[in-house]
Amino acid sequence: MKKIKISAFHKRSKDELDDFIRKLELQALETSEERTPLYKEVGLKDAKLVLDVGCGSGTVTRDIANYSNGKIISVDGSKDMIKVASNILIKNKNIELLVSSAEFLPFKDNVFDIITCNLLLMWANNPQIVLNEMARVVKTGGKVLASLEPDYGGKLHYPENPKIDPIFAGKAIRKKGGDPHIGRKLRLLFVRAGLLTKIGIGNNRIWSCEEDKSYYLHARDFYIRTMKDAGLSEKEIDKWEYDYLKSLDDGIQLNFFPQFYAIGIKKNE
Ligand SMILES: C[S@@+](CC[C@H](N)C(=O)[O-])C[C@H]1O[C@@H](n2cnc3c(N)ncnc32)[C@H](O)[C@@H]1O
Repeated sequence: MKKIKISAFHKRSKDELDDFIRKLELQALETSEERTPLYKEVGLKDAKLVLDVGCGSGTVTRDIANYSNGKIISVDGSKDMIKVASNILIKNKNIELLVSSAEFLPFKDNVFDIITCNLLLMWANNPQIVLNEMARVVKTGGKVLASLEPDYGGKLHYPENPKIDPIFAGKAIRKKGGDPHIGRKLRLLFVRAGLLTKIGIGNNRIWSCEEDKSYYLHARDFYIRTMKDAGLSEKEIDKWEYDYLKSLDDGIQLNFFPQFYAIGIKKNE
């Protein structure tokens, strides 16, 4: 029997968990403009039974539940995240939460009308097995949507900082066990799972310097922690932050990196 490596759901410290929850909340807000058209495209409104895989703190699941008239089942491999999600989603009566690995979904074949996952595949140890599982439990004719899967290899950024840029262009993600190049792999993953596949880019505009600054200030703890973890001194971090904020205040900074999505339809067997 082939041995499958299952994602390790490490325990986060209270500070790490708080940073993470804040970051997910912010990301959910900032990305609603790119996710909503995808929900429309897959017909989420009329789906009767939806599965959201890797729901995290549940902020994106809340958008899904508010958009859909159906019932939503949400799974995440981390007990801590399901606990957080159960508080955040307390008012949503159409959501059921479950601790489960995405590599072994505890459902029969052909059950769900639509399966969604947002920012999951880049963190999964076995994205192909996750996709195969989703393709198994979605109904024939049903759809699998993976949104917001970035590719840091396509990150554009100017003015540059040769020492710090590589940290945010993939190094930090890799160190945490993620795949910074998941975007370019989506087509292969979906096609190999036997799905009729469409790939696209969700973010089609460049943020203004004001938007970049507001995002940075909200997520500042995460940025500082990441640079410290990468071994930078406080002096180096202070200098980087001064230069970065100045470039934003001067209105000259440009940041972009592509966020891919994939929609897969389950074919007749
Ligand atoms: C970056 S978060 C995204 C959460 C949420 N979808 C959102 O967009 O706000 C990724 C989530 O996927 C979960 N996850 C990662 N790999 C998983 C796996 N193999 N099985 C189940 N959950 C997984 C993590 O625990 C985490 O909560």
